[in-house]
Amino acid sequence: MSWKKQSILSAAQFTSADLTEILDLSQRIETALSAKRNLKLLDDFILATLFFEPSTRTRLSFEAAMHRLGGRVISTVGVQFSSLAKGETLFDTLKMVESYSDICAIRHSVEGASSLAAQSIQIPVINAGDGAGEHPTQGLLDLYTIHKRGFLERGKLKIAFVGDIRFGRTIHSLVQLLSHFGAEMVFISPDELQLPDKYRRLLDAAKISYTETHDIAALRDVHVGYITRIQEERFTDHREYEKFKDAYIVDLELVEKCRKDIAIMHPLPRLSEVATDLDRHPAAAYFEQANNGLYVRMALILGLLDAGF
Ligand code: CP
Repeated sequence: MSWKKQSILSAAQFTSADLTEILDLSQRIETALSAKRNLKLLDDFILATLFFEPSTRTRLSFEAAMHRLGGRVISTVGVQFSSLAKGETLFDTLKMVESYSDICAIRHSVEGASSLAAQSIQIPVINAGDGAGEHPTQGLLDLYTIHKRGFLERGKLKIAFVGDIRFGRTIHSLVQLLSHFGAEMVFISPDELQLPDKYRRLLDAAKISYTETHDIAALRDVHVGYITRIQEERFTDHREYEKFKDAYIVDLELVEKCRKDIAIMHPLPRLSEVATDLDRHPAAAYFEQANNGLYVRMALILGLLDAGF
């Protein structure tokens, strides 16, 4: 079954052919947008964005994507500004969204919330982050960024994931997508923040080789360093967060000891784990990632609404 006209709930749902198609469509949209500001393909469509956890990039880029496609957006931001705060169930909220819109993107603190949403309504649902689960559209824009940096085509990508690999939902999605490209992976984290078993099993099944270490020096021989924030909001014991929050800091001095063509990625927001002295260095790919989110999310919206381009 094609990725089109479906919900996007997990990176696991994409085939290699789907990924090729999404990368190609994103590239064509990026090229088209360099010539005109609005593609005017979705005049009659409405996107609903339901963000029950904080967001800057994901919500704004989904909304910008819909506007650049000529469509319209309705949104609710934060539980306190929806009728969930008055005790309405998520199911009832979703039934309203189904009547008012053609597609919806949902961010929720509970893992699996977007899957439940997709089972409750008939319009396509996009998982825009479900707790410590997944963030598949971030994984896709990360993949597009790696592709644009020229590393996917080489067929021998070596990538290091750094920081909170246990709770980092963007990592959970990206590792699954990269398994289609035979990437070699290194996980750099404290023992307590290692990759959950569910994703180890997926990598094992895909015969992806990976190593685990505490040592940030492992960044030196990879093509991509994917750095993540320690996810404070997922810790039940705040002392644990305090113990790990400054575990790894990637700065200019460290990057100058790495491969000359390394890309330093981060889904953002960042705290101290990527130093600002790196921002103007050619390795810094994190603002590029956020920019690429627009093209990839335009591609996804077009595909889910089965609109040609
Ligand atoms: N990368 C990402 O999900 O950013 P936001 O939390 O700002 O949406």
